[in-house]
Amino acid sequence: MFKNTKGSSSTKWSEDNIPSQTGKRILITGANSGIGLAAAKELAGKGAHVILACRNEAKALQAMSRIRKSHPKASLQFLSLDLGSLDSVREMAREFLEQYDKLDVLINNAGVMWLPQGTTADGFETQIGINHFGHFALTGLLLPALLKQPGSRVVTVSSIAHRAGNLNFEDLFFERRPYGKHKAYGQSKLANLVFARELERRLNRAGAQTISVAVHPGVSNTSLGQSRSETPASKVVSGLAQILTPLIGQSALKGALPTLFAATEADVQGGDYIGPDGFYEAYGYPAPAYSTRRSNNPEIGRKLWEVSEQLTGVIYPFENQQAVA
Ligand SMILES: NC(=O)c1ccc[n+]([C@@H]2O[C@H](COP(=O)([O-])OP(=O)(O)OC[C@H]3O[C@@H](n4cnc5c(N)ncnc54)[C@H](OP(=O)(O)O)[C@@H]3O)[C@@H](O)[C@H]2O)c1
Repeated sequence: MFKNTKGSSSTKWSEDNIPSQTGKRILITGANSGIGLAAAKELAGKGAHVILACRNEAKALQAMSRIRKSHPKASLQFLSLDLGSLDSVREMAREFLEQYDKLDVLINNAGVMWLPQGTTADGFETQIGINHFGHFALTGLLLPALLKQPGSRVVTVSSIAHRAGNLNFEDLFFERRPYGKHKAYGQSKLANLVFARELERRLNRAGAQTISVAVHPGVSNTSLGQSRSETPASKVVSGLAQILTPLIGQSALKGALPTLFAATEADVQGGDYIGPDGFYEAYGYPAPAYSTRRSNNPEIGRKLWEVSEQLTGVIYPFENQQAVA
């Protein structure tokens, strides 16, 4: 766990503390809006080559021109990625690996929240399909490029909502229980955190020089969850969130600080979980975040890993795994 070297309760770490990123290659999923866009802008401004992996090219190009307004020399690239389709994930990874053999930082940021019941192209429940299974496949397919780059990082964006999440391995896709969009979101964000920690365990066992870190942005005023469809039972929670988020939510840039910290700060260690340091971790500066016991349970991590490999067909190519098995 990283330490707060100033000895105060807050790091007060901000985008101004980001060291030069010149020479680094950073891929961010969902970089066309909200937290992903804010992170892309800061990292490009510090000299990184930033790859915006987005499902909508027009939105990605618009985001790139917004970044270039602040940083005319920004080194940016768009790759097409729909995390709701394993074919698209494979195609994007293939395109990346055709151009590059190394990756410094992968930021698993894209996400959907509180969608009505639905399935991805591969038949997974939409929220866990996009938020977790798409990123699981992407990370595994890009792992060879991460392993080749000493000091590389995988940063996965979870949420305070993981606290209410439960991974129901008997019915991950709500096929045998009533669908709840808040439940499904919590489950998917718990999966993000469990995945990040299990990935760290496996990287560690393999003796890899890549680390896995999880973050959450607190409550940030972005477009997340704006296309909601309501049932009477979920109207109250969603309605309150719709009213409160713009009032109490911090900016997308503030929400991106834990991500930027995890991606660039030297003190960060594999397995860290970083979020804002304010009340209920809703806002503030990067600090160690609270996580539930089940999010750090290796047995749950192993189970999620097995089911993820099985459902996506992506088997992670950890080097040295044979030797430690
Ligand atoms: N905002 C918060 O308060 C908050 C709190 C906790 C956690 N988070 C997490 O923070 C992350 C970023 O969210 P945000 O708040 O910045 O929301 P946002 O502004 O809605 O950004 C979400 C991004 O994900 C992309 N995306 C959605 N589905 C995708 C798919 N199938 N394939 C590829 N990209 C896809 C979106 O693309 P389109 O523009 O094409 O839809 C968008 O670029 C998410 O993982 C979210 O769960 C946010």
